[in-house]
Amino acid sequence: MLQDTVRTTAFERAIAALVKPGMTVMDFGCGTGILSFFASRSGASDVIAIDQSAILAVAKVIGAANGFVNVRFIRGDESSVTLPAPVDVLVSECLGYFAVTEGMIDAFLLARERFLAPDGVLCPRELRFYAHLVSNQNLYKQLDFWGTQPYGIDYSLVRDWPFHTVSVKSFGSDDVLPWMIDLGSLDLRKASCQPSKFVGSCIATQTTEVYGLAGSFTAILSDDVLLDTGPFAERTHWGQVFFPLRHPFIARAGKQIEVQIEARRGMGEEMFWRWSINDGTVSIDMDDFVHRLWIQAQITP
Ligand SMILES: C[S@@+](CC[C@H](N)C(=O)[O-])C[C@H]1O[C@@H](n2cnc3c(N)ncnc32)[C@H](O)[C@@H]1O
Repeated sequence: MLQDTVRTTAFERAIAALVKPGMTVMDFGCGTGILSFFASRSGASDVIAIDQSAILAVAKVIGAANGFVNVRFIRGDESSVTLPAPVDVLVSECLGYFAVTEGMIDAFLLARERFLAPDGVLCPRELRFYAHLVSNQNLYKQLDFWGTQPYGIDYSLVRDWPFHTVSVKSFGSDDVLPWMIDLGSLDLRKASCQPSKFVGSCIATQTTEVYGLAGSFTAILSDDVLLDTGPFAERTHWGQVFFPLRHPFIARAGKQIEVQIEARRGMGEEMFWRWSINDGTVSIDMDDFVHRLWIQAQITP
């Protein structure tokens, strides 16, 4: 993640803009401590670096080796840590694929409730969700490999499987249509939980085949720093989440297209997805849970 310089320098710039000398800062989920070190460098009087995992030990030795004497490291989470006073700035890189997959946003929102002063500053403060329509036919052909009788074997029983599988890809501008579909936003200063349903629409400006949706997000880190993970932005480790369609969908020029993505949390970090596209006449609805049940049924004696 530290090697993702687009991500890390965006946080560095935002922290430099938000943290004024003398402020107190919490870095929630500090990992190797990089955001804490940025905050200390910006003149914070006291930085509290929290992480629930053993990685905290690494942050501690790196902090000491680099002379960050005002960074305090605490192992714990949003419910186990207590502080004597609220902080002025709460920063966290709590973002998974399509922002929501890591399940850390809810913990960040609880940390906001517990640790941030009423007039304190959040980084990130808002998330915006987007979808692009995937137009690269090669991706569809790759997913339909099992429909090609590979090596003379009939794999058609599981032909649908790859189409019901959500994956992370790095799309370029040639892979998607230029229409950006706004799927709504999350104001992290007010929200109590992360969203589970994302709905948006666009008007097709040409008639063309669509093979799936590419989900991305933009994180607003400060007034001037936006971290855009879309297919037209500089690449980040988040890429985009690919929601394939079982059959090509024909986008017809002038028609309104509605897309919907739904994320449901399973056990632990597991996520189940439903996604759909429709133009009022044709609708394609996908659900990875149904397909997982089918697989389960085959392997259960
Ligand atoms: C995406 S990493 C970010 C690390 C670091 N802040 C950075 O920017 O490189 C998220 C970190 O948050 C920690 N974490 C996740 N959920 C947490 C929670 N509820 N409480 C404390 N730490 C958490 C993980 O252990 C992990 O180190």
